[in-house]
Order: sequence, then C-alpha cells, then structure tokens
Amino acid sequence: MDKRLFSPATQRNRESIGDVLSKIIKKDGLILEIGSGTGEHGVVFQKRFPRIIWQTSDPYLLHRESIISWIEYEGLKKKMPQPLDLDVENIPWKIPFNLANFLQGIVSINMIHVAKWTCTIALFEEAGRLLKNGRFLILYGPFKIDKKHISQSNYIFDNSLKIQNDLWGVRNLEEVTDEAKKKGFIQEDIIRMPANNFSIVYRKCSS
Ligand SMILES: C[S@@+](CC[C@H](N)C(=O)[O-])C[C@H]1O[C@@H](n2cnc3c(N)ncnc32)[C@H](O)[C@@H]1O
Repeated sequence: MDKRLFSPATQRNRESIGDVLSKIIKKDGLILEIGSGTGEHGVVFQKRFPRIIWQTSDPYLLHRESIISWIEYEGLKKKMPQPLDLDVENIPWKIPFNLANFLQGIVSINMIHVAKWTCTIALFEEAGRLLKNGRFLILYGPFKIDKKHISQSNYIFDNSLKIQNDLWGVRNLEEVTDEAKKKGFIQEDIIRMPANNFSIVYRKCSS
C-alpha cells in the first residue's frame, strides 16, 4: 500500500540543503538522518549522492511507513536501508554496527524546534559519542541569533509552535552551539538559507 506522506516544505528546501550537503559530504560512507519525517529528503539526497548510503530514522510509525513507501516508489529498495525507529532521547541509540562504524555524518532537518529542548541535548550527546573526529553534524532550520528572531515570520512561526506545544520553539543558536561544544563539536559554518533558515555545520573535534 502506498503510505507516502507529502510535505510542501521539503519541495522548497531540498535543493538548497542538497547544495550545502554537496560541499560537505565525501564520496563514500553512511549518513544518518534524524527525524526524517515523510522521507522525501532521504530519497532525494540518496539519488543526488549515489555513492553514500542515506540512513533515515524517525520515532513515529506513520513517518517510517511513509519513508518505506517513498523508498519503494523511487526504486531505491536495494540501495537504501529501512528507516530506524529512533527517538533521540532513547539513549544509547540502537543503530546497526556497520552504521556506527562507517558513519560520515549526521543530518537533522527541521527537528530541534519541533521537539523538546532535551532532544537537542540528547542529539549532541549521542552524536558526540558516535561520530569520530572530523565527522559532521548538520542542523537545518530557523534559529534565533542573540536571542532575537531574524524575521517577523520566524517570530509568528515560533508562537505557532508554542501554541501546539509549549516545550517546542525556535532555538537560540548560541545555546545550541554551547551544547555542541560541551560534546566536543566546533561550529564550523553558519550558512544563511532561503526563507529565513540556516544550515549550521558542526564538526567533531575531540573524542
Ligand atoms: C517538522 S518535522 C521535519 C521532518 C523532516 N526532517 C522534514 O524536514 O520534512 C520534525 C520531525 O522530527 C521528528 N521528531 C520529533 N521528536 C523527535 C525525537 N525525539 N527524536 C527524533 N525525531 C523526532 C518528528 O517525528 C518529525 O518527523
């Protein structure tokens, strides 16, 4: 049965996120995506970077079913692994041995503001444990800079998130990076993206 879900935002941002990834991803290895949602990014990036293996994950069954449907629909069943049932707060993450061994980087798109702050802490904790020195963690999404929204639309979006769940919300970049540093990452790059978003590139620099 076709269980594909569709997210209009992925159609708008996948090209520009892919352009950022194209400058960072090395030819081979595995990428772990956290909070893959519908799976549309996963299949698009798997096709754009055919030499890597894109490992999707999501804690919600409906999302994992959508990801499986997208993998089948795009004819990627032989290439892409099945999505992992991964909630960042369930530490330690249960991931296959070969994934941990050949992990080149971790990518999380539009996740940390639609989850509790403790999820950001858990994300860096486990990413810091799993990634070897020199490997990357990329976050994409809206961020506050110096505790201020960078646009009126981000302010409105933040309020709409908090109405849905008062533990959600657009994060302050400095606080996110403080957590990253505690777990051995440096903030390598801040890339301004369309629609008032950022890609933040962290690099593991200590074990
Ligand atoms: C706004 S959606 C973004 C989905 C997808 N990355 C995208 O950009 O279309 C947020 C995603 O984070 C996932 N998520 C929420 N809490 C999570 C957690 N504790 N651990 C891992 N993923 C989580 C949700 O299931 C959802 O798929």
